[in-house]
Amino acid sequence: MKSVVIQQPEQLVIEERPLPKPQAGEVRVRVVSAGICGSDVHIFRGHNPFAKYPRVIGHEFFGLIDAAGEGVDPARLGERVVIDPVVSCGHCYPCSVGRPNVCTSLQVIGVHRDGGFSEYACAPAGNAYQVPDSIPDREATMIEPFSIAANICAQLRPTEQDVALVYGAGPMGLTVIQVLRGVYGVKQIIVTDRIPERLAMAQENGADRTIHNGETDLAAALQAQAIRPTLIVDAACHPSILPEAIAIASPAARIGIMGFSAEPCTINQQAITGKELSIFSSRLNSVRFPQVISWMTEQRIRPEKLITHAFVLHHVTDALTLFEQNQKTCCKVLLTFSD
Ligand code: NAI
Ligand code: MN
Ligand code: ZN
Repeated sequence: MKSVVIQQPEQLVIEERPLPKPQAGEVRVRVVSAGICGSDVHIFRGHNPFAKYPRVIGHEFFGLIDAAGEGVDPARLGERVVIDPVVSCGHCYPCSVGRPNVCTSLQVIGVHRDGGFSEYACAPAGNAYQVPDSIPDREATMIEPFSIAANICAQLRPTEQDVALVYGAGPMGLTVIQVLRGVYGVKQIIVTDRIPERLAMAQENGADRTIHNGETDLAAALQAQAIRPTLIVDAACHPSILPEAIAIASPAARIGIMGFSAEPCTINQQAITGKELSIFSSRLNSVRFPQVISWMTEQRIRPEKLITHAFVLHHVTDALTLFEQNQKTCCKVLLTFSD
């Protein structure tokens, strides 16, 4: 089989590898399509602190079960599945409270172990979720990115009363916007970014108002319109954002962060406690795939709107380069695998 291997930072090869044999409790998936994520590029460039090399990247993938390890129901052969990349131990403290995404021995498929940019990939059978026939292959590939939005929303508990502010209209911000609109029906969604084309995408995906915060002072613009966000999601993840979000937020607001920057930022307790703000963080997803699958089945979210490009596996370098360099036109870029 062919696999996209990052041998070490900056060294990508399409390698011929032997077909993997599923271990006990695992399934093997013949991959049909996979999505490119910022974290794949980070592993390629050597900027992901969790990655070990060589690594087959890819944690957003959909395919068909083509082999089952010992103890896996053979009736699952042929099943259309999407893989939850979160592999957890099942018995540590976070696992015991339903948060396997921060398991003390967390393994992320495509980061800590080989992933889905490969003609075949193995995963624990419990991580392979059946996809209903009503969800097309390409859209099924989007279940993982939407699971990130589902997870942060599960923390924030949006309501119809909320005035939401989303920082960043990249793939993450846009999935969050779709979920806030289509699933939670929040009252208003304001989106800020510094790329006009991305702000236009935000509008197409459910934003009521957009603010270019490279040109306009965000805090002043909101104040001029007497807007006090009650729910803020940082899907841009620059360290300067949290202090600003704390200052802008309405009393009793909730703020969700999802960044991995190691840069410090300065915040003060008074600004948080004075308004009794709640600050949540969210990493990956804690068993949110079934929820996202039902949102797609009910057409409350529109994954197809976020897929801007598709490349065959053979052109993976072009796909990664385009994704990395062309934020104006790219949202989700897919890799497809011919059979
Ligand atoms: P992206 O880089 O495509 O999008 C970020 C957007 O934010 C860009 O459009 C950029 O112009 C905008 N931006 C940057 N600085 C800004 C600022 N100060 N104010 C307003 N907008 C600003 O990235 P993507 O894929 O959408 O991911 C967003 C972030 O989410 C990344 O930092 C990524 O590491 C993080 N992430 C976290 C996950 C988690 O589980 N916690 C999962 C996936 C991504
Ligand atoms: Mn991803
Ligand atoms: Zn655990």
